Amino acid sequence: MRKRNLFIVLTGLTLSFPFMGMSQTWDVPADQKEVVAPFKFTPGIQKQGEQIYSKNCHSCHGNPGKNDWAKLTPPPGDLSAVKAQQQTDGEWFYKITTGKAPMPEFRNVLSEDERWWVVAFLRSFNPGYIQPEPVAKKVFTGRVVTLNLTFDSTQKQVIVKAYDMLQDKRKAPAAGVEVELLVKRYFGNLTMGSPVTTNTQGIAKFTFPGDLPAQRDGFSELVARVLDPKGLMQTTPDTLRIAAGKSNDQPSLLETRAWWSVRSKAPVWIILTYTLSVLIVWGFIIYILLSMVKIYKSGKLK
Ligand code: HEC
Repeated sequence: MRKRNLFIVLTGLTLSFPFMGMSQTWDVPADQKEVVAPFKFTPGIQKQGEQIYSKNCHSCHGNPGKNDWAKLTPPPGDLSAVKAQQQTDGEWFYKITTGKAPMPEFRNVLSEDERWWVVAFLRSFNPGYIQPEPVAKKVFTGRVVTLNLTFDSTQKQVIVKAYDMLQDKRKAPAAGVEVELLVKRYFGNLTMGSPVTTNTQGIAKFTFPGDLPAQRDGFSELVARVLDPKGLMQTTPDTLRIAAGKSNDQPSLLETRAWWSVRSKAPVWIILTYTLSVLIVWGFIIYILLSMVKIYKSGKLK
């Protein structure tokens, strides 16, 4: 009985396998289909779009109208063809923005304007195309988040408060924002623990490790910033200098002689080798010049 069930499942899977790839369609949300460009597609704009196209799209989609796209699965297709041109500007914009393997997403590669330029360029291959009336983009719709750093020296806690900046310039606690805390170091910053998501009061707390070496003056410099890999927010980090951290009598990395330091702090052997090689090179040059003078003089004598 068990074996028979397994057999049925396996046969079903095997039979449906070839169709899996075919059933994938590229759906665009209805509200995105209606999105229209924020400016008119002038010949100048189309020219700029052509440059974007040849840099970013040509390698896969080929020359519009020439059916010479790259041999990929699914095929990229010719974007000047009727099938592609039947789609709305919004559908194209969405597809260019989000991509779909093997097509890359251009969200972070091209600016919104540049994505519209490409759309404009591709529409120049469609004589029947009439551009819908442009609609200027609404003011920034994402969140604007600012951070505020404070230090509770008794609890040894770093408190990050995140605020949503509202349209009317009011502030409201920003919940659900992922914040990371960094400590400034000579070479780059050091992350302190893992990121913390702000609670309903917009607060994220970090414990300051007591054994973390401070700077020579006994201070530590902190930076808090929002983690926003998708770029959905406009954020401002905050910095704070606190008198905390393990005191540290060691000379700073930049105060001792080291090969990464400036000239006056470079190791003696580097200065010596350098000076010596400069002297040798100059010695040769002077020697050659003197020999030339000698040759010149002896030539004149005869
Ligand atoms: C790495 C190859 C690759 C690059 C680069 C690429 N695409 Fe694509 N593109 C594809 C593939 C493959 C498809 C088909 C995807 C599918 O149907 O699932 C596609 C589909 C599309 C579609 C949808 C066509 C339709 O009929 O639904 C548009 C629009 C599009 N690409 C525009 C662009 C633009 C504009 C660029 C440059 C900014 C670009 N692509 C760069 C591979 C690529």
